[in-house]
Amino acid sequence: MSGEIKSAAKKQPVPINRTSEIIKSRSKLPIIGEEQVIMEAISENDVIIVVGETGSGKTTQVPQFLYEAGYSNGNKLIGVTEPRRIAAISVSQRVAEELNETSDIVSYLIRFEGNAGPNTKIKFMTDGVLLKEIQNDFLLKNYSAIILDEAHERRVFSDILIGILSRIVRLRQKRANPLKLIIMSATLKVDDFSKNQKLFPQPPPIIELSSRQFPVTIHFNKKTPHDYLDEAYKKIYKIHSNLPAGAILVFLTGKLEVKQLVSKLRKAFPYRETDSKIGVNTKCKAEKKKEIGKPLPEINLDDYDIEMHSEDELILSENSSADEDDDDDDEVPSKIMKFSSSPLWVLPLYSMLPAHKQSKIFEPPPPGCRMCVVSTNVAELSLTIPNVKYVVDCGKTKIREYDPLTSVSRFSVVWESKASANQRAGRAGRTSPGHCYRSYPSLFSSALFNDEFPEWNLPEIQTTPIDNVILQMKSMKIDKITSFPFPTPPDKQTILGAENRLVTLGALEVDKNVAEINNITPLGKSMAAFPLSPHYAKMLCLSKDRSLLQYMLFIISAMSVQEYLPGDNVEAWKKTKLSWANKGEFLLLGDLMVILRSMGGASHAMKKSGLGGLQDYCTKTGLHKKSILEAWKLNNQLINQLNINVPSLKLNTDLDMTPPTPIQVKQIRQIVLAGMLDRVARRLTTNELNRNGIRPNKAAYYASNLTEIVYIHNSSVLKKSKPEWLIYQEIFQVQDKMYIKGLTAIEPEWLPVYANRLCKTLKVLDDPTPRYDEETEKMFCTVNATYGQAGWSLPQAEIE
Ligand code: CDP
Ligand code: MG
Repeated sequence: MSGEIKSAAKKQPVPINRTSEIIKSRSKLPIIGEEQVIMEAISENDVIIVVGETGSGKTTQVPQFLYEAGYSNGNKLIGVTEPRRIAAISVSQRVAEELNETSDIVSYLIRFEGNAGPNTKIKFMTDGVLLKEIQNDFLLKNYSAIILDEAHERRVFSDILIGILSRIVRLRQKRANPLKLIIMSATLKVDDFSKNQKLFPQPPPIIELSSRQFPVTIHFNKKTPHDYLDEAYKKIYKIHSNLPAGAILVFLTGKLEVKQLVSKLRKAFPYRETDSKIGVNTKCKAEKKKEIGKPLPEINLDDYDIEMHSEDELILSENSSADEDDDDDDEVPSKIMKFSSSPLWVLPLYSMLPAHKQSKIFEPPPPGCRMCVVSTNVAELSLTIPNVKYVVDCGKTKIREYDPLTSVSRFSVVWESKASANQRAGRAGRTSPGHCYRSYPSLFSSALFNDEFPEWNLPEIQTTPIDNVILQMKSMKIDKITSFPFPTPPDKQTILGAENRLVTLGALEVDKNVAEINNITPLGKSMAAFPLSPHYAKMLCLSKDRSLLQYMLFIISAMSVQEYLPGDNVEAWKKTKLSWANKGEFLLLGDLMVILRSMGGASHAMKKSGLGGLQDYCTKTGLHKKSILEAWKLNNQLINQLNINVPSLKLNTDLDMTPPTPIQVKQIRQIVLAGMLDRVARRLTTNELNRNGIRPNKAAYYASNLTEIVYIHNSSVLKKSKPEWLIYQEIFQVQDKMYIKGLTAIEPEWLPVYANRLCKTLKVLDDPTPRYDEETEKMFCTVNATYGQAGWSLPQAEIE
């Protein structure tokens, strides 16, 4: 009885004091009419699915519905998970504003920062943050509801969260305070959740929001362009010069492309402070004239050559394409200016863009300017840009591909899915009828769109390495991964392969009692704390004991940066490496030595004379400044994480570095071996070279787990010295030859010690008893052993 009173009291509605402006903008959202339906469904079911077009108001409104209905009463939290950090921040600010509350009440928490505190009622966070919270409190007792946003994106972490939350909801069902789970998706492809009996035995109700979509006319290119970036530029140019007012939204595949195009457009249509003052009367006359009630021409822009600029002028502007690095600078207007009608308010948009820059898309452009947002696919499903009338779609998207052979994942650009193409086009019809220009020919009759464009994007869990995910799940005490309710399970072989690799690394160990189950080891637990691939995480965990952290942090952050260290000046970089390649002991670190010297030299230059000094250093050596800056950023993030995990370390983010001593060099090589123990290469003997018809001076190697012969890549500083035993970071194929790079020399007698799980001991040679080492207080014995499946024989080694 008292329980009933308590729970009834809990759901007292909370009065909200919204401004009239907010009330007005909310009333336009399709979701507002569905509030009652949604809230009734939530109160009657533990799990519901809300489906609605991007921009229908899911992300900003559903948390408010719950808050208003009293779900945060009694010190309970409403949690919202976002796949992107940037969305968590910006939406928390927006919702606070709409509710007229402070960031104390509506807060966010992402990997290394946040403003959530004891007063927080609505908490926006990344998927990873909620996963970590579940590790500490499996029942999520502080939460009354979890909203899982953007579930359609099918990120690995959100898939796993759905699996775990389906269990938590069931466990909380019988308690006084059940947990509500709201899964939100921008596409109707929710069968993997709703019809998956392992996940939800009772299919959860799906609430479909009506979309307020105006017709969008699709225009196709006559042929697939060679360079879609250039094609997009020309299209924007034509739209802006010829078509009525309305924002332009451009879809490209990555941040670098976005920056390139933004810079080019800003040059072609420069905007200056004064433009907004005089703009309406002078500069933007053309714009203004067109705006007034002129119907949109129903023609394909490709055939649209009124006021077209001659090819020369376009080429002229292409040549003036700016340095990608300084897109924020005021650039010198190029000659093309005289043809442009009015300033274009060009904004970049990608997920790593700082929040304050990203939020510019929600603000109106300066008077008389047309807004043009150049975006990666973040604008496809998770952000709504107001007043978009024209969409320019390059037709491609960047996906991450994983090669199980080399355990390396790469980004590649592929055709977008049909679902993506439709979503992108839909962005043009939110406020009025719109137009979408696709960079490929109309293909309804031809095979390309039908055969080559996938129907939907694949769930991430099927396209990325899952070693790290499995480790995370194990650290959450999920024992049997193969029976976990994944929305789309990876195949059993993939899971077992990942578990085996983790056993080899020492992060998991086979359970003595239950076959088929691997338990997490203490090392595995420490590794799971880092957002890194398990190989790198292990290297970091091992360095903690050895006070080599600074070096390891530099190495790992530099290797994790997507665009590798060297810049465009290949010649300068070659010279630099050559001048570094003569240092005795240090050279044994191989390509990691190059990383350490680069990072160390750059830090020194930065410390001495700031960014200018860094730029000079990079120009001189041929290093890539941006990669260095990114690596430092990651370095600092890892240091923060280390300080959280091990407060006694008290690391500071000072970038100073003295070169490692010979002993430290040896220790670093051993740690790299321990982390990369399954990526060992052995040089072919003279006999083997002969047998394979390879010239004796070639740097030819056998790599573990591979039957083909691999060669040291030209980029490696170890190409000349060809050490007999190596660790490699990467194998890749160019035409029909395989290359290794990212190399470090190791000693074969270290293998039985640091890669013992891959070694077979053939014979213990000590007679009669093992040796006792007084310094380390450990027993040692001498063994004969072999490494790997091929059974490479090793020299005699001492093991504990
Ligand atoms: O989640 P969904 O895509 O369904 O919509 P939403 O993100 O809740 O967006 C609803 C409206 O709020 C859109 O018109 C956005 O432009 C606007 N919004 C905003 O003004 N500022 C934000 N930070 C986020 C959304
Ligand atoms: Mg949303």
